[in-house]
Amino acid sequence: MFSILSSKKDRLPQEAQRTWLRTVALGVGLALITFLLWSSLGIDDDVAEVLARRGEVLEGRFIEIPCSEDYDGHRRFEGCTPRKCGRGVTDMVITREEAEQIRRIAEKGLSLGGSDGGASILDLHSGALSVGKHFVNLYRYFGDKIQNIFSEEDFKLYRDVRQKVQLTIAEAFGISSSSLYLTKPTFFSRINSTEAQTAHDEYWHAHVDKVTYGSFDYTSLLYLSDYLEDFGGGRFVFMEEGSNKTVEPRAGRVSFFTSGSENLHRVEKVLWGTRYAITIAFTCNPDHGIEDPVLT
Ligand SMILES: *[C@@H]1O[C@H](CO)[C@@H](O)[C@H](O)[C@H]1NC(C)=O
Ligand SMILES: *[C@@H]1O[C@H](CO)[C@@H](O)[C@H](O)[C@H]1NC(C)=O
Repeated sequence: MFSILSSKKDRLPQEAQRTWLRTVALGVGLALITFLLWSSLGIDDDVAEVLARRGEVLEGRFIEIPCSEDYDGHRRFEGCTPRKCGRGVTDMVITREEAEQIRRIAEKGLSLGGSDGGASILDLHSGALSVGKHFVNLYRYFGDKIQNIFSEEDFKLYRDVRQKVQLTIAEAFGISSSSLYLTKPTFFSRINSTEAQTAHDEYWHAHVDKVTYGSFDYTSLLYLSDYLEDFGGGRFVFMEEGSNKTVEPRAGRVSFFTSGSENLHRVEKVLWGTRYAITIAFTCNPDHGIEDPVLT
């Protein structure tokens, strides 16, 4: 086609050639202006691909990624320590009804305390509960009266949910569920838009779980409220060069991933409403395992 322009015989008249050049120049100019406008609006500052939308019901989405070297510094457990790394999301493991029931447990427990900042936690294993700028031990504080707050059914549901999440992770990574041990911290979180008061409230920094908590090998999150319905902001972001991947929380949605720096992540600041979730962590090292909570 370009041979038409270069062939002497069919050379375009000079007038037509000038028009053609002008058109090209105009096109390039327009493209440049569009690009500059686009960048100045910050639209391409946060190129993020949505891994799971709030409105979707995902049967299971799994993306394999190469493992980082973070596991090398720790004792390896064959058949458990990640050799296959990646991240997955599913809406099929925990029903929305179960998510609502478990959210009520979180609400009950957290209503006894609450951080002065926007982020409160409740750890049913250790009993840790955010109160003001600190934590108290719920079990020590309430003693036997804890049975007036939580029921046996609450704890059974918590154990069932943990079990289902554990099976999901084992299946996705091709390991045996019995090689995984629950580890700490495993906790409920409640986040609203109130400004942070202490470092404990600063949940939005990018981090690697294996670096933050040495024992983690597999991290999971069970969302207990809906993005853009119960709260705004607060999306989960896997950070990658070139393009971040977001998970929009949805009640009952489980997202899980290997805990090394192949899964650097952050949570966006919550802008309005209240966001509930549970972080459930697993280790391959039995020495770092913790027990399910029991109502004593
Ligand atoms: C990914 O997110 C971080 C923090 O929100 C941001 O600074 C970075 O520019 C994003 N990266 C891309 C490629 O959009
Ligand atoms: C956020 O939660 C705290 C308790 O942790 C509460 O004191 C505060 O009023 C809440 N803020 C908003 C904006 O709802």
